Amino acid sequence: MPETTRTVSLREITADTVIPVCKLTAEPPGFVAPNAISIAQAHFHPNAWFRAIYADEELVGFVMIDDSALLPEPPAEPEVGLWRLMVDAKHKRHGYGRAALRLVIEHVRRTHPTLERFYTSCVPGPGTPRPFYESLGFVFTGDVDNGEEVLALDLHQPAR
Ligand SMILES: CC(C)(COP(=O)(O)OP(=O)(O)OC[C@H]1O[C@@H](n2cnc3c(N)ncnc32)[C@H](O)[C@@H]1OP(=O)(O)O)[C@@H](O)C(=O)NCCC(=O)NCCS
Repeated sequence: MPETTRTVSLREITADTVIPVCKLTAEPPGFVAPNAISIAQAHFHPNAWFRAIYADEELVGFVMIDDSALLPEPPAEPEVGLWRLMVDAKHKRHGYGRAALRLVIEHVRRTHPTLERFYTSCVPGPGTPRPFYESLGFVFTGDVDNGEEVLALDLHQPAR
């Protein structure tokens, strides 16, 4: 698996960057919603936390998590899951997705020190990102939600 030598960071999206973020494209299609849809949804879901992914100063992707602790009436035991993750087609396989997901996991550990599991889900079939998640320690839970396989990361295990 590639390790990038560039510095990957997660940055808030601004009026200047929202259009470039919306123009990023995921390949193959069908595994993640367009970023414009995700950003629109985020504005109606207080549980959404989203950032642009940069490699050094270059915009390369987008990530969004679902954090029920951000709801106006958060549950006693919040759940946190990866909602969207994409790296632009021309920047794939440089290690940016893995580096960005590690930063997201650090963010979740920092904001939820007692949380046990961090979830993701993915569409099965050719081109599925499931091996990508498994390489970071996510394990298939056996559940299928709306046709998507649910995977969980044990946050008490050391990060990979
Ligand atoms: C999945 C995605 C975010 C991974 O980001 P990335 O920057 O390309 O991944 P990285 O370079 O950090 O890691 C790549 C490694 O992860 C694995 N990997 C990444 N994407 C994979 C895929 N679709 N299928 C199988 N393995 C994959 C491989 O082991 C790969 O290493 P290799 O090229 O040496 O074999 C990106 O490919 C993407 O945006 N895909 C389309 C949208 C998508 O599926 N999003 C996830 C929705 S649940």
